[in-house]
Amino acid sequence: MQTVNRIDPLRQAVELLRADGPVALVPTMGALHEGHLTLVREARKLGAHVVVSIFVNPRQFGANEDLSSYPRPFERDCELLRGEGVSLLWNPDGEAMYPPGYATNISVSGVSEGQCGSARPGHFDGVATVVCKLFNQVRPDLALFGEKDWQQLAVIRRMARDLDLSLPKAEAILGVATVREADGLAMSSRNAYLTTEERAQAAALPRAMQVAIAAVRSGNAPEAATAALKEALVAGGFSSVDYAEFADADSLQVLSQLHDKPARLLVAARIGKARLIDNMAV
Ligand code: PAJ
Repeated sequence: MQTVNRIDPLRQAVELLRADGPVALVPTMGALHEGHLTLVREARKLGAHVVVSIFVNPRQFGANEDLSSYPRPFERDCELLRGEGVSLLWNPDGEAMYPPGYATNISVSGVSEGQCGSARPGHFDGVATVVCKLFNQVRPDLALFGEKDWQQLAVIRRMARDLDLSLPKAEAILGVATVREADGLAMSSRNAYLTTEERAQAAALPRAMQVAIAAVRSGNAPEAATAALKEALVAGGFSSVDYAEFADADSLQVLSQLHDKPARLLVAARIGKARLIDNMAV
């Protein structure tokens, strides 16, 4: 696996790979786990050369968020990626990504406004901006993202379509199902913030989500189901719930009742030092 941290060697390395087949990009912020590695494996299954980016993007962290404490086990990440047959690691430093004088922001309206968008102002501008740059830097033939971050995936698809990026076709942006621990908790780099006790309590999140989905499927109002879900999480050790909403799976508009289009339950809740997010199909 070749590692590059400047744009010119990146472009050269990608062109060599592309001469030999399609190039898939898997953007990450490192602290890799099975969720990330599953994206790599899916890309390899499609016969693509895999480029992974590791960049802890300051623009998507709010002022009081965990940018400085975000885990950065770089050597371990490299080992894992080598083991998965990744061709190229794009590991820009802050200046390579945002040179002095950098002044451009990408803001996607609509899908980025509710849920994590209102709980973390500016977060999706930071995500859209860095992912747009990553697409332009690597110019991949396809890119893979996790459904774990459902709203992020919706924002990126909207941006790629709206800006005619090198990945204009929705099919070139693949969503991969959430990888979970044995007790159902979605894998996340932020699970590392949990104490042993909090980690055990955190499994209440996917359990309570399943209960809420079953309630709505059997005819209960979404609002009543999310109210009960919030109570269950707080009773189970979570300190607060940023949001718990049934929403249209594509537009992310909150639903007061299910309709005939796909719906999703999306939740963000805090436990200990971690803010955990999860989502499930209804
Ligand atoms: P990060 O949180 O490192 O996640 C990188 C990719 O892995 C994202 O597409 C995310 O959805 C996916 N992922 C994380 N946990 C997963 C799980 N349990 N199952 C399946 N996929 C999972 O998301 C980001 O980084 C950043 O916002 C980024 C897109 C890199 C832009 O900075």
